[in-house]
Amino acid sequence: MKEIILSHLSAECPWRDTLYWYDTIDSTNTRAKALAKEGAPHGTVLVAGTQTGGRGRMGRSFSCAPGMGVYLSVILRPRCRAESLMHLTCAAGLAGCKAVEQACGVRPQIKWPNDLLLGGKKLGGILTELGFDRDGLVDYAIIGIGINCNQKTEDFPPQLQAIATSLQDSLGITRPPAKLAGALMEAFYKMSTRLFDDKEQLMLHYRKNCATLGQNISVIHGETVRYGKALDVDKDGGLLVEFENGHTETVNSGEVSIRPIG
Ligand code: BTN
Repeated sequence: MKEIILSHLSAECPWRDTLYWYDTIDSTNTRAKALAKEGAPHGTVLVAGTQTGGRGRMGRSFSCAPGMGVYLSVILRPRCRAESLMHLTCAAGLAGCKAVEQACGVRPQIKWPNDLLLGGKKLGGILTELGFDRDGLVDYAIIGIGINCNQKTEDFPPQLQAIATSLQDSLGITRPPAKLAGALMEAFYKMSTRLFDDKEQLMLHYRKNCATLGQNISVIHGETVRYGKALDVDKDGGLLVEFENGHTETVNSGEVSIRPIG
């Protein structure tokens, strides 16, 4: 499988030499963290056929049926302070969109902060995790992405069937996960080379791709649900929300759902 992924990657991509393939793994992000702590270099990429403990944002699990999707993590070593990496999640979301567009000819939208949507349903998600050294500098950043490729509606767990989709389900196309894995490696590599170039341009691009902006949303923190309208995404990727009480606030965490009109 590793060779097939490499066949979809340009000869110039330096990450070709640091690609690991796993038929089954608990979580590529968990394994990437362990490798990063052992000193794995920038650009180490892990791809799995299935995950038994795939993780999502906010401690959730991520459904990973064998051969149905792409489950990929990359280790970056940017050597900077966390404050300089606030836009990483947005950059990763855009790279994910670009890879899907390149491999499948259709561009997903982004649900803030970085779920990929097709037809309003979740096609995939991204989990970014940071580790720090003793001086408080970023030691490693892991970007983990899962994209649903070949599931039919009934292949998703019942509680996800109304909100999740796959390339097969939305577009009726079957894409070997390896092709998408190659496109993701390429897109993340290019993103990493330009990560600090022009943050303003990147955030402009993110806003254009973000399906959440202008929508009525609910913001959930623990047991608390608040309703409002998504106004903007700030320079660090925070979501500016006008709540029903007229108060405007930047949201940096929590679950945000787009509320259907009516
Ligand atoms: C989310 O939906 O909240 C994010 C999902 C991220 C899933 C990917 S699959 C590859 C990598 N390994 C994990 O355990 N999670 C990420």
